This record gives sequence, C-alpha cells and structure tokens, in this order.
Amino acid sequence: MKIAIDGPAGAGKSTVAKMVADKLGYLYVDTGAMYRALTWKALHDNVDISSGEALVRLLNQCRLELQSDSASQRVVLNGRDITEAIRTREVSNHVSEVASHPQVREAMVELQREMATKGNVVMDGRDIGTYVIPDADVKIYLTASLEERARRRYEELRVKGHEVSFEEIKQEILERDDKDRKRDTAPLQKAADALTVDTTGLSITEVVNCILNIVHQKT
Ligand code: C5P
Repeated sequence: MKIAIDGPAGAGKSTVAKMVADKLGYLYVDTGAMYRALTWKALHDNVDISSGEALVRLLNQCRLELQSDSASQRVVLNGRDITEAIRTREVSNHVSEVASHPQVREAMVELQREMATKGNVVMDGRDIGTYVIPDADVKIYLTASLEERARRRYEELRVKGHEVSFEEIKQEILERDDKDRKRDTAPLQKAADALTVDTTGLSITEVVNCILNIVHQKT
C-alpha cells in the first residue's frame, strides 16, 4: 500500500503523515526533509543555490539518511544529525529555489521512488501523488487556511524561542507556496484523484483519524 500526502506549507503534513505511518506500521518518507537537507548543506558549504549542477554535485557527495522510529524522525547527513537545523527560517526561505531545479528534482525523485519500492509507505511532499508515485493507492491533499498555517508556524517558532512577527511568517509561507506552485517541474498541485482534507480547526488526532478512515475504506 502506498499513501501519498501532498499540500502547501504548514498544513501539518509531516506530523500527520508520521503518525499515520506509525499507526499502520508503514515506512514514513518526509521528502520535504530531503530538499531541506540539501538546502542546509548548500548554505553551510557556501554552494551557489542558483546552480542546479552544483547542487546535484553536492548531493552526490552526501550520505542522507531519514531515520524513523516510533518516537521521532531524524535527518542525518554524513553522520551529522541536522533534524533541527533544517527547520530554521533561513532554510525554509531558500528551499523552494533549491527544489525548483529540474536536475535536483530528478536526483531526489530517483531516491524517493527507490524508497517507495521497499513496501508499505507513507510519503509526504508536493508532487508525490502527481509525479513521484502516481500509482499510489491513497492520495490526500492536505490543506488549511493561510491564517491557520501561518499561526501554526508562528507558534512552533515561538515555542523554540524565536522572536518572530506573525505577518512576516504569513508572508514567507505565501511566497514559498507561490514558488512551489509556479515552478516548471512537478509543481505543487492537487492530483486529480486526490481527496482534499482541510485541517482548519481540526486537531492532529482528528486529521490522523480522518486519513486512517480513508485508508481503511481502501483496504
Ligand atoms: O514539506 P516541507 O515544507 O518541509 O518542504 C520544504 C520544501 O521542499 C517545499 O517548500 C518545496 O519547495 C520542497 N519540496 C518539493 N517537493 C517535495 C517536497 C518538498 O519541492 N516533494
């Protein structure tokens, strides 16, 4: 069984997808974390992120691991745990440019498709149902109002001790979605056969149960 969860920034995909995968005992693949990891490494090593070629060269030198257990999901690059480092605003504000390069996407999609062959999987991202695994058994388009998505991001950053402005966060989310929707290669869009789940006003448990119900109807 393959479950694809796509949607705009801050819709809660990673949290929900991980919980769904745990409940079902499936592998969880956070494809956004893969693009974020490459972005973090490029910024860290001063690699030009306007060059798709340079980014692919960098990716080929990296050993990227997504380690998932029931408690957490860790992102490890060349043996270094960068789970927290890839969630900064700096990475968020550069990742769409990195992910817009066709060569970068080609290399990432190859890795993702390989992971999807390993058995039951929940994969989340922007192009999973439309491009990475178009034959997925269940496709969910997870969304929420812009206000709610911005509020969640804002609170997440505040809890981590960051002084941020709500309006700035909202603007950044809007810009990232815009870039992800307008890029030429595999842009963010709802697959024709995806079910939309609007999480505005819903708790995480409610969203997880809603997706589990959809999955159970398919089995
Ligand atoms: O899901 P998350 O917000 O962590 O994704 C970060 C970024 O990675 C997205 O804004 C998008 O630019 C890129 N991405 C993508 N395709 C995916 C997953 C993420 O282009 N399948």
